[in-house]
Amino acid sequence: MDQLPLPLLCASQDASQTRDLGTRVAGIVEAGDVLLVSGDLGAGKTTFVQGLARGLGIDDPVTSPTFTLVRIYPCDPPRPAGQEPPSALVHVDVYRLDNLHEVSDLGVAEELDQGAMAAVEWGEAVGEAFAPAHLSDHLSVHIEQGLPEDLDRRAIRFEVTGPSWERRRAALAEAVAGRPPVREEAS
Ligand SMILES: Nc1ncnc2c1ncn2[C@@H]1O[C@H](COP(=O)(O)OP(=O)(O)OP(=O)(O)O)[C@@H](O)[C@H]1O
Ligand SMILES: [Mg+2]
Repeated sequence: MDQLPLPLLCASQDASQTRDLGTRVAGIVEAGDVLLVSGDLGAGKTTFVQGLARGLGIDDPVTSPTFTLVRIYPCDPPRPAGQEPPSALVHVDVYRLDNLHEVSDLGVAEELDQGAMAAVEWGEAVGEAFAPAHLSDHLSVHIEQGLPEDLDRRAIRFEVTGPSWERRRAALAEAVAGRPPVREEAS
C-alpha cells in the first residue's frame, strides 16, 4: 500500500464540525491509544474530545476536568474482529499542573495498560513526563485558531508517531475525509 501523505490537515468552520471530526476519529481508536490534543486556550481541544466521546458511545457530558485533571469514561464501542476496543476514555487536561512530574502520578499509564485510551489536552507540552512507554506510539491532533476575520475557523492537523498509528494512516485519512481538506503535505 502506498504511504499516504501526512501530516493531514483539515478545516473546521464551527464547533460542531470539530466535534464531528472527533467522532470520526473515535471509529479507529483502539485499546491503549494515546491522543495528544494541542492548541491555544479555547482552540477547541475539549470540543474535539467531546466528539471523540460521542463516537465511543459515551453519554456522559464531557467537560474540562478542571479540578480533577483526569476523568475516566467507561465505553465499549463496536470494533471489527481482531481489534480491541478501548474499555474507557481517559480525558486528561494537564494545563494546570504546576509540576510536570505530577503527571506521572495521575495513573494514566496504568489505565492504558488495562485497555483504556487517553486523550490528553496540552499533551504536547507534557512530553516524556507522562506515560513514556505509551508515547512512542501516538496520534497528535493540533488545532490552530482562525484568522481575525473568521474567528470560528480552525485548521486541525493530524500527525502519527509509531507503528500502530503508521498502520492506521489510511484509516485516519478516511476518517477525516468528511472535512474539506486544507492541504496535504509530505512528511
Ligand atoms: N471550529 C471550531 N472548533 C472548535 N470550537 C469552536 C470552533 N468555532 C468556535 N468554537 C468555540 O470555541 C470554544 C472552544 O472551547 P474548548 O473548551 O473546546 O477549547 P479548549 O481548547 O479545550 O480550551 P482550554 O484551553 O481552555 O482547554 C467553544 O466555545 C466553541 O464553541
Ligand atoms: Mg479544554
